[in-house]
Amino acid sequence: MNTKVVNIDEENINKLEIEECGEILRNGGLVAFPTETVYGLGANALDPNAIKKIFEVKGRPQDNPLIVHISDFEDIKPLVVDIPEIANKIMNKFWPGPLTIILKKSSIIPSVTCAGLDSVGIRMPSSNIARQIIRASKVPIAGPSANISGRPSPTDAERCIEDLNGKIECIVSGEKCNVGVESTIVDCTTYPPCILRPGGLTLEMLKSIDDNIYIDSAIMKKCDKDFKPKAPGMKYKHYAPKAPVKIIQGDLMKTTVKINEMARDYIEQNKVVGIMATNETLKEYNNAVVISLGSREEMSSIARNLFETLRSFDDNKVDIILSEAFEEEGIGIAVMNRLKKSAGFDIIKV
Ligand code: TXA
Ligand code: MG
Repeated sequence: MNTKVVNIDEENINKLEIEECGEILRNGGLVAFPTETVYGLGANALDPNAIKKIFEVKGRPQDNPLIVHISDFEDIKPLVVDIPEIANKIMNKFWPGPLTIILKKSSIIPSVTCAGLDSVGIRMPSSNIARQIIRASKVPIAGPSANISGRPSPTDAERCIEDLNGKIECIVSGEKCNVGVESTIVDCTTYPPCILRPGGLTLEMLKSIDDNIYIDSAIMKKCDKDFKPKAPGMKYKHYAPKAPVKIIQGDLMKTTVKINEMARDYIEQNKVVGIMATNETLKEYNNAVVISLGSREEMSSIARNLFETLRSFDDNKVDIILSEAFEEEGIGIAVMNRLKKSAGFDIIKV
């Protein structure tokens, strides 16, 4: 398939191109487009054939449901059975933005979209390009991250092209994703609401609505084979670059010493070592491919750079990636959740 790459300037959005993307989606085609979290792979959420194509193109496990994206508040009504008051409060405060709400689904959403569950995840992104494309399609848009399953999510158009060129109708090249990790998923089918995936919106922010909102304890643990997490996607290998990742966690000074020790051993075995550092530690390392995620003082920039940095180690053809760890608070919870999954929970404590 010939994939059309369309440049859309966030500051000066070309309506004709938006209309064209909307039409492809409405007619059952696949369009990758930017959102504020990561690039999404869009398809008409009400068209089972279009949804099947998403699963095929991504190589996505059949039991992993898709998030349905909307452009305007009133679009949610036909998609769900009812909206509890607490869900209304959360949506009103944090939409549009990096938040997905799980509610009981209505019958207009085909079973394949939600992988047979009786609930649906709904998200209204804040990205203008994303919302205009969704609005132009005149249908709700299923949108998983626009990567091949298992790989780090793409945060710019080049990474989408890397994974999806030749496989879908259109890739929209727009803004770089500002948040960099996916939306926070909040299950509002029970009270108190429970965070099934930490993301761009922090627990602290959600607690401003209701202090009882909590994080599902399965989030930071390795799921063993028989465990069934509430968000099916959480059990799969995820966000993994080609080289194995090891996380070194503990006091920062001890971390740098341990990483240098480990790097030396790997280099002796003729391996190319990648080190995922921070601005504060960059100068401690050498003889390796050292990339900084940004400053520890600014966790939002670390979140923004995480997936791109994991992918750039692949470009550098490293054999092993050694990464520093971060405090599990604020957006650091989402960063550590993604990092631990990318490492298959290979964590060395110092
Ligand atoms: O930020 C995002 O949410 C991005 C952008 C493109 O919007 N999308 C995204 O989709 O991250 P995806 O497919 O990569 O991740 C969806 C996650 C999976 O872990 C899936 O299991 C969970 O959402 N999920 C979807 N529907 C669910 C449901 N009804 N109940 C529980 N978990 C659900
Ligand atoms: Mg994904």
